[in-house]
Amino acid sequence: MSDKKFKRTLVTSALPYANGPVHIGHLAGVYVPADIYVRYLRLKGEPVLFVGGSDEHGVPVTIRARKEGITTQEVVDRYHKLIKESFEGFGISFDVYSRTTSEIHHKLASDFFRKLYDEGKFIEQTTEQFYDEQTGEFLTDRNIRGECPHCHAKDAYGDQCEKCGRTLSPDELINPYNAVNGNPLTKRATSHWYLPLDQYQGWLEKWILEDHKEWRPNVYGQCKSWLDGGLRPRAVTRDLNWGIPVPVEGAEGKVLYVWFDAPIGYISNTKELCDSQPEKYGSWETWWKDESTRLIHFIGKDNIVFHCIVFPSMLKAEGSYILPDNVPSNEFLNLEGDKISTSRNWAVWLNEYLEDFPGKQDVLRYVLTANAPETKDNDFTWADFQARNNNELVAIYGNFVNRALVLTKKYFGGAVPKQGELTEYDKTTIQEFCDIKQNLEQLLEQFRFRDAQREAMNLARTGNKYLADTEPWKLAKTDMERTGTILNVALQIAANLSIAFEPFLPFSSEKLRKMLNMEKAEWEQLGSISLLSEGHELNEPSLLFEKIEDAAIQAQLDRLARIKKENEEAAWKAPEVKALTNIEEFDKADIRVGTVLECQKVKKSDKLLQFRIDDGMGGRTILSGIAQSYPDPSVLVGKQVLFIANFPPRKMMGTESEGMILSAVNSDGKLVVTTVSSAVRNGVQVG
Ligand code: 2FM
Ligand code: ZN
Repeated sequence: MSDKKFKRTLVTSALPYANGPVHIGHLAGVYVPADIYVRYLRLKGEPVLFVGGSDEHGVPVTIRARKEGITTQEVVDRYHKLIKESFEGFGISFDVYSRTTSEIHHKLASDFFRKLYDEGKFIEQTTEQFYDEQTGEFLTDRNIRGECPHCHAKDAYGDQCEKCGRTLSPDELINPYNAVNGNPLTKRATSHWYLPLDQYQGWLEKWILEDHKEWRPNVYGQCKSWLDGGLRPRAVTRDLNWGIPVPVEGAEGKVLYVWFDAPIGYISNTKELCDSQPEKYGSWETWWKDESTRLIHFIGKDNIVFHCIVFPSMLKAEGSYILPDNVPSNEFLNLEGDKISTSRNWAVWLNEYLEDFPGKQDVLRYVLTANAPETKDNDFTWADFQARNNNELVAIYGNFVNRALVLTKKYFGGAVPKQGELTEYDKTTIQEFCDIKQNLEQLLEQFRFRDAQREAMNLARTGNKYLADTEPWKLAKTDMERTGTILNVALQIAANLSIAFEPFLPFSSEKLRKMLNMEKAEWEQLGSISLLSEGHELNEPSLLFEKIEDAAIQAQLDRLARIKKENEEAAWKAPEVKALTNIEEFDKADIRVGTVLECQKVKKSDKLLQFRIDDGMGGRTILSGIAQSYPDPSVLVGKQVLFIANFPPRKMMGTESEGMILSAVNSDGKLVVTTVSSAVRNGVQVG
């Protein structure tokens, strides 16, 4: 924290909907960066509070409940537990991880609304909303589906089209219907309370566009485009039976809009923690109302408008809260080239990763930070995951540390040797790692986690190179003093690495500290060349990282291939049937049965197979472009196939083809010949 006016930092991370497990996109976009930042501040000894929790209201959880045939409460109980455990598994070091169904939250959010209501900060408006006459309920945007006016996908949501990605409003949909039961919708009048964002436009323009030019370009740009478009009042209540009841007489059947209550969850969760341990955490109001608190929201890009425009306007309207100082939002992470999607199961689920790769939480943390979508969308691939583990964590960081420790054990019985006179080369190496503290600080304070982690890895590279260049294993035969100095320097680098990597790879730093027999160091000590004193006893070395074999990666790729296939199957629809106008049209094609006598690849062609067919009429040759589907064409010999007999002969690759073999695309997308299941006479007509 460079700015002197701040005494403490309050870090929030978006509250994930408790409607499913969390995946790598969540981790990369929000929780790993937030955790790196918080761990860094803690290491520096600065007061910081890290607040998280589950977002348990809103339509997404009700949709999940209907899908799974369980109650909404059961859904949020199940996923809150799973999400919390996944975050713990990855070392996301929340001070509090609570939920928006808590009593404290219901009261705080309700009081917040009521205060604004009493002070006349809302406007009430009656509008026509979509209504399902059969079930007697108003539909929220997410529960309305219909045809997208832009790309004409038939199943766009009322708030967004997943096919073309455009933001929509339900009124734009063509033929809207109830997403749950397919019922057509009518319109009915209903009243709601709105936060008149238009009244905050001028204030927001100054606060964001003038006073926060340092925000990330993606965040600043999105805010600017919202502001340039002109803000309009936003409804903060909904007709729904799941959520926090609107605390106003006559508002039965209405709840606070999930995006009104969820960000207040940051406050409630802080209150829950502070009220339970006031001596440790102080008053929640100090964290939320004292101007010397720096508030930072870590979020994904789809949450920008809510955290930079809507929530600040709510806080401003309330009047007693501080505003965010920064909102470091990431872009999206894709998986193997496709958008991560919960509904299509296209994700790497954190709970599954923890089972498939036990003890390798840091590997995923490392890869997600190395590839963090900080400035643009990025792609996660299993090949990159394996390469970064094997070529960077194992081959550079792990290898360096292991060599330093093993050689010290071998030549000095595991005690840190004396640092004798330093050569020029030693001094240059030391200088490099003395600079790391400042470099890391600069990057971390600008939320440039990807570059910061690269900087830490460069220190491991420096160590690795230092050992490769000085070759202490050779010197040990002739010069033990020099060998000792080299290993001392190497061990100091290793000790520094345990500090530099602590925010990024906390599990590995702890393991390394154990091997070095070292207490948890402070950030201030980073860059020191005397972290380990002469004679200090080291513990048994073990491997810091292990190689990931091809089989483990293949298993993940197979899983994704299976899911892709299932999705394709689910999305596959038989093409429209084109009507024949009369039977003669069909009769024009003379389809017959024949037995394959010979079948081989056509030389110099990747695609063509040459068939010799017994057609019951003396035999014929047919060429067919299906070679890719049959690596061994001889499997077709003896099969009875269908062919069009009256196709005009055509020369291909120097051979005349007399007809066309009928084939179809199978579920792998390959063309396969259609065969006859019970023997019939060759030359028989099909029709
Ligand atoms: O997009 C989401 O997953 C929301 N549940 C995030 C809420 S963030 C905060 F406001 F609570
Ligand atoms: Zn669309």
